[in-house]
Amino acid sequence: MIRILVVCLGNICRSPIAESVLHTLVEERRLGATVEIDSAGTHAGHLGSKPDSRAIAVATSRGYGQIARQRARQVRPLDFERFDLILAMDQRNLHALEQMCPSEHLHKLQLFLKYGGSGGGASAGEVPDPYYGNREGFEHVLELCVSGARAVLDRAVSERFQAR
Ligand code: 4NP
Repeated sequence: MIRILVVCLGNICRSPIAESVLHTLVEERRLGATVEIDSAGTHAGHLGSKPDSRAIAVATSRGYGQIARQRARQVRPLDFERFDLILAMDQRNLHALEQMCPSEHLHKLQLFLKYGGSGGGASAGEVPDPYYGNREGFEHVLELCVSGARAVLDRAVSERFQAR
């Protein structure tokens, strides 16, 4: 099993979008028995909430309807043991994870776009926070998550099979 946790600030915009895209890819590739996906936030401001309505609208319109079933949760200490890969949406949240993470699990932390190798462009490896912006910002996040998720899954699966 490969367990991947995607992390943003509130767990209501970016990481739910990334989770829903990864979830759909896992189903399409019939990897459900091999890859587990979850998401969480570094902050507790929206615990138990559905994703932001703009995130649900943008993701659902592109076929990633799993997003509507998600509820926000905060990163917890056991996540660092349970997950193999913990991928932050931006530097701020990567730093927050580094502060919380036991040293033996630090190697699991990376930027979502950097891990997949798709973060070399204008984004500088970050998925920007769309919360105070407009729908275009959410569309941009979705685009980054779609290309990032493919790359993340490709690398995670190929590294796991090489390690055997
Ligand atoms: P997310 O976006 O980290 O992508 O879920 C945000 C959600 C909420 C807030 C900021 C960013 N907030 O300030 O409440």
